[in-house]
Amino acid sequence: MNGQSLSVRDAILQRRSIKKFNGQPVERDTLMTVLEDAKWAPNHGNREPWRLVVASSEELDELHTVLREFGIPKWQELPEVALSKQMKKFLDPGAYAFVIVKEDVRQKERLEDYAAASCYIQNAQLLAWDLGIGSCWKTPPFIDAPNFREIMGVKPEERIISMLQFGYYDEMPKAKPRMSVEEFVTFFGSN
Ligand SMILES: Cc1cc2nc3c(=O)[nH]c(=O)nc-3n(C[C@H](O)[C@H](O)[C@H](O)COP(=O)(O)O)c2cc1C
Repeated sequence: MNGQSLSVRDAILQRRSIKKFNGQPVERDTLMTVLEDAKWAPNHGNREPWRLVVASSEELDELHTVLREFGIPKWQELPEVALSKQMKKFLDPGAYAFVIVKEDVRQKERLEDYAAASCYIQNAQLLAWDLGIGSCWKTPPFIDAPNFREIMGVKPEERIISMLQFGYYDEMPKAKPRMSVEEFVTFFGSN
């Protein structure tokens, strides 16, 4: 890194979801700066409807045990080689943030809050990218499992919307093709 930030456009265009991390830890201070800056996401009524449960450095060992339990079916029965192969996806990220949103009983507010928290996540992903840190927004089914929610301290009126993995990486994934703007834009009055 040369200390110079990417332009907003370059960050948006260049960011890719990183699914293969290299195991290098993400420093807590760096992560906290990303999570602090990401709070400038748009959010209706200034409700700031997100909270995060974070694991970096010292919390990681305990989190890995929980992820093994919830993320690898019948892990006790797997041969050690197979288990360590499957565990790689959980062990290699350098930090985790579970993004939790309050689920408002009013539908409009609930949608707004999910949207705002999604903006928060995108901010965090772009800010991390700018620092050379990859990330992936993951939604494994266990984030809604009652026992997992309990371990994470999720209240009944809340929901985990993302297991956000952060970490350093050696390989840059190829971008999958996207639609061109002409394919998803029509002009008012032409439909
Ligand atoms: C709401 C949401 C949920 C996602 N869940 C997963 C997931 O469970 N596992 C995964 O590998 N990627 C997940 N992703 C990441 C997408 O696979 C990724 O963004 C997509 O392939 C586009 O790649 P890019 O981010 O590099 O442009 C999720 C992304 C979003 C926005």
